[in-house]
Amino acid sequence: MDVRQRVAVVTGGASGIGRSLCLAFAEQGAAAVVVADLDADAAAQVAATIEAGGHRALAVAADVASRADAEALVAKAQDAFGHIDLLCSNAGIIVGDEAWSRMWAVNVQSHVYLARAVLPGMLARGEGYLVYTASAAGLLTQLGSAPYAVTKHAVVALAEWLSITYGDRGIAVSCLCPQAVSTNLGATSRRQVGADTPTTWSDRGAGPQAAVDGTLTPDQVAAFVIEAMADERFLILPHPQVATYERRRADDRERWLRGMRRLQARLAGGR
Ligand SMILES: NC(=O)c1ccc[n+]([C@@H]2O[C@H](COP(=O)([O-])OP(=O)(O)OC[C@H]3O[C@@H](n4cnc5c(N)ncnc54)[C@H](O)[C@@H]3O)[C@@H](O)[C@H]2O)c1
Repeated sequence: MDVRQRVAVVTGGASGIGRSLCLAFAEQGAAAVVVADLDADAAAQVAATIEAGGHRALAVAADVASRADAEALVAKAQDAFGHIDLLCSNAGIIVGDEAWSRMWAVNVQSHVYLARAVLPGMLARGEGYLVYTASAAGLLTQLGSAPYAVTKHAVVALAEWLSITYGDRGIAVSCLCPQAVSTNLGATSRRQVGADTPTTWSDRGAGPQAAVDGTLTPDQVAAFVIEAMADERFLILPHPQVATYERRRADDRERWLRGMRRLQARLAGGR
């Protein structure tokens, strides 16, 4: 899909990868960009930046983990711009083991609520694009955060299911699986669940596992997404090494698990 003249909705659009996607879509000539986020002020700022560039935008305050908010977001976007061509279901958090239910709600359930809300319109028009921000953790694993590893695997599974189920009815699906990206993920996640919740993500950026192949900027990731969307490619891997790791995991699971244990020990300073 070429985003020109398309109506895009981006969740988590106020910061990081979502913010860069919003700005990039506007720059590429999208008809309108809906910036949805828990942080209403920051979403309004992104929408104002887009409008200042001469493009149409709408900021919507929403907790996408709430079914009512997710449905209201889709209704507001449709009321404002007629329909939705592209949904980037991007909002997510990383926290520790205490916050399983919040992680499940934000990182998985939100995608289900939003897909259910946008699909009827897309199927009726015979076209639409769903982009899911999972993570390399959704193909491999996340050391130190079981809920992040599990919920991001669930996002990949949901995206695959949607692609298989609706791919022949005009619905394109992509799944974005980066390693480290320089964003506010640690800080915005902690704000939601309490400052004491431990995470491998600091306020300054990704933990050492994610950063092992370098850290990208959110603008670089947005450029990868736009390029992959042009060919409607399912898997978007801004860090190409992830494809090799995934292949090794599939080829010999026992060997891969031993290697991950070694990596964990090395990063913990043990061996
Ligand atoms: N930063 C990385 O290294 C990295 C790597 C792989 C995947 N990801 C994924 O990228 C996505 C975007 O994160 P980011 O790194 O840009 O972080 P970020 O914190 O900079 O941006 C995320 C935005 O989502 C919003 N948000 C969080 N929960 C929300 C909710 N329930 N409802 C509405 N908005 C909500 C936050 O307010 C924030 O503005 C996440 O799904 C994250 O898991 C990030």
